[in-house]
Amino acid sequence: MSRSERKWDHIRFALENGQDRSSAFENIKFIHQSLPNINVLDVRLDHSIGELYLSSPIFINAMTGGGGEKTYRINKELAMVAKYSGLAMAVGSQMAALKDKTQKYTYEIVRKENPDGVLIANLGSEATPDEAKAAIDMIEANAIQIHLNVIQELTMPEGDRDFTGALKRIEEIVKNVEVPVVVKEVGFGMSMETVRTLKSVGVTVVDVGGSGGTNFAEIENRRREKSLSFFTDWGIPTPISIIEASSVSNDISIIGSGGFSNGIEMVKGLAVGADAIGIAGYFLRILVDQGVDSLMGEIETLHKEMIMIMTALGAKTIADLKRIPLIITGETCQWLNQRGIDTRTFAQRTI
Ligand code: FNR
Repeated sequence: MSRSERKWDHIRFALENGQDRSSAFENIKFIHQSLPNINVLDVRLDHSIGELYLSSPIFINAMTGGGGEKTYRINKELAMVAKYSGLAMAVGSQMAALKDKTQKYTYEIVRKENPDGVLIANLGSEATPDEAKAAIDMIEANAIQIHLNVIQELTMPEGDRDFTGALKRIEEIVKNVEVPVVVKEVGFGMSMETVRTLKSVGVTVVDVGGSGGTNFAEIENRRREKSLSFFTDWGIPTPISIIEASSVSNDISIIGSGGFSNGIEMVKGLAVGADAIGIAGYFLRILVDQGVDSLMGEIETLHKEMIMIMTALGAKTIADLKRIPLIITGETCQWLNQRGIDTRTFAQRTI
């Protein structure tokens, strides 16, 4: 199967499979505040991730490109939405265009549509610094994501089997490119050990890509004759992964992603440590099923929901959210306590 056929399979199966539902967000509960002392007009959603200024904490996460006309169209429409809604946007892996120059246009369109927007390049951890620079140049990117997708590759019939040297290559990319490097997972989550190791080679931004949303083990299993079903419920649920990652150091910016589809989950993700929230599958489905205008409308709704929830909590900024008290219950609490994270610090903090 060609690379571009595979790209289309991923979109098709992601749309057909839908998203997993993780109960982990239900394990996080805000404490109601009757005197929030705040005007809804004072709530601000803008925030910075290191040197990247974002006018919204929501961004469109990496999905596509490199699969000819259909992926060109999706990237064009996502870029139109990103521009209109003021969202940053990542493209899908650009290796397809580095290997086959005729595919470059399927990525370049995002910069054409959104000349002043925040755009993020994307490659896997097999990339060299020169490839990373070429991907950045291709869309004049403001940052680059390097994705880690061991479980997806193992489940993919034609996937990689050798995962040695990834950390060294990431270190070389961090040293050699001039934009921030975001190391990301694709739906299996990042542990505190992984984040600590990435920090040791100079990485300052991670996207935890937790489980609970698009499930690439399930997608790849649909492309196999004999399913590796044990990988379908593999992974670290998104809120747990955000908390593990943010326990490592205050010097790392955390992006929460994996399964977000409403304002309350996003505010919970930010409150437990994320600096921004990436959304892939949920936005793709709205775009493909209902079109550009509906996706723009949904993003407006999400922004409004977030402002309402932040008002109720008395949080004027994303930074304030990280200080509001919340309770962590159930399996999420058990997991975190066993991992040495004291959940009472979340329950007893004050804004
Ligand atoms: C993805 N994702 C992805 N990630 C990446 O780093 N490079 C890529 O090329 C792709 N390709 C891709 C295609 C499609 C169709 C989907 C739906 C997703 C993964 C994506 O960025 C994200 O990490 C996961 O999908 C989890 O987030 P959601 O979908 O649960 O919001």
